[in-house]
Amino acid sequence: MAAGSQNLQGRRVLVTGGASGIGAAIARRLAADDAAVVIADIQGDAAARLGDEIAGTGIPLDVTDFERVAESVAQHGPFDILVNCAGVDQHAFFTQTAPNDWRRLLAVNLESVFNTTHAVLPAMQAAGWGRIVNVASEAGRLGSRGGSVYAAAKGGVIAFTRSIARENGRKGITANVVAPGPIDTPLLRQAVGDAGDKLLGAMTGATLAGRLGTPDEVAAAVAFLVSESAGYVTGEVLGVSGGMGCGA
Ligand SMILES: NC(=O)c1ccc[n+]([C@@H]2O[C@H](COP(=O)([O-])OP(=O)(O)OC[C@H]3O[C@@H](n4cnc5c(N)ncnc54)[C@H](O)[C@@H]3O)[C@@H](O)[C@H]2O)c1
Repeated sequence: MAAGSQNLQGRRVLVTGGASGIGAAIARRLAADDAAVVIADIQGDAAARLGDEIAGTGIPLDVTDFERVAESVAQHGPFDILVNCAGVDQHAFFTQTAPNDWRRLLAVNLESVFNTTHAVLPAMQAAGWGRIVNVASEAGRLGSRGGSVYAAAKGGVIAFTRSIARENGRKGITANVVAPGPIDTPLLRQAVGDAGDKLLGAMTGATLAGRLGTPDEVAAAVAFLVSESAGYVTGEVLGVSGGMGCGA
C-alpha cells in the first residue's frame, strides 16, 4: 500500500461507471488499497479489461435497469462499499432540450443511484457496516448554465444521499457525496463539445485553483470516505473542485 492509503482488505466494493475517467481512477485506487473491486459499466469490455488489470472483476451493466442491477448484486455481492459514479452530461440550454433528454439524464444520473442503493443496502444493514459514496457534481449545489437537467439530477443525488444517511446513521452505514468540479475526463471533453476551449476556460476560471482537476484527486477523496477512519463522517458533500463550491 502506498503512503496515505487506507486498508480496505476484506472489503468488497461495487463501482458503477468504473470503466472510464473518474470511476476508473476510483477502481484503481480502492484496489491499490486492497479492496476486492467489481466494476459495473455499460462499456462491458472496458470494464472487463480494467477488472483484469486490478485483479478485480468487470461486468457489463446498464445501471438504469432495476432488475439487472438487482441480479448483478445478487450474483457478485454482497458489497460493503458502494460507489456510484456512472453518469452522463449534455451541454444545452434548457429550451433546447426535450423530455427524452430529461428522462435519459435523470435515469443515468439519479435513478441508477436508487437502483444500486436498493440492491446493496439490505446486506449492509444486516452486517451493521457499510459505506456509500455518490459522485454528484458542484452543479448539484450551484446549478449549471447549459446543464440544468444534469444539475437537477445531481441535486437529487445530494438530497437522496443525505436521506439515506439519516435512515442508516445508527446502523453503522455512512452515505456521503463527492462533488467534483471540472475534472479532465472523456465526459467533460464530450460535454463541452465544439465550444471546448472557451467553456473549459470559463470552468477553470470559476475554480479558486485555476485549473482542471484530475480523476486521481477525486479518487483520493472517495478512498477517505469509504475508509474505517471516516466512520463519523456522514450526510456530507465534499467538493473536489478547486474551491468552486466554496461557501455552498
Ligand atoms: N468530468 C467532470 O468534470 C465531472 C464533474 C462533475 C461530476 N462528474 C461526474 O463524475 C462521474 C464520472 O464522470 P467522468 O467524467 O469520469 O465520465 P466518463 O464518461 O469518463 O465516465 C462515465 C462512465 O459511466 C458509464 N456509464 C454511462 N451510462 C451508464 C449506464 N447506463 N450504465 C452503466 N454505466 C454507464 C460510462 O460508460 C463511463 O464509463 C459522473 O457521474 C459525472 O456526472 C464529472
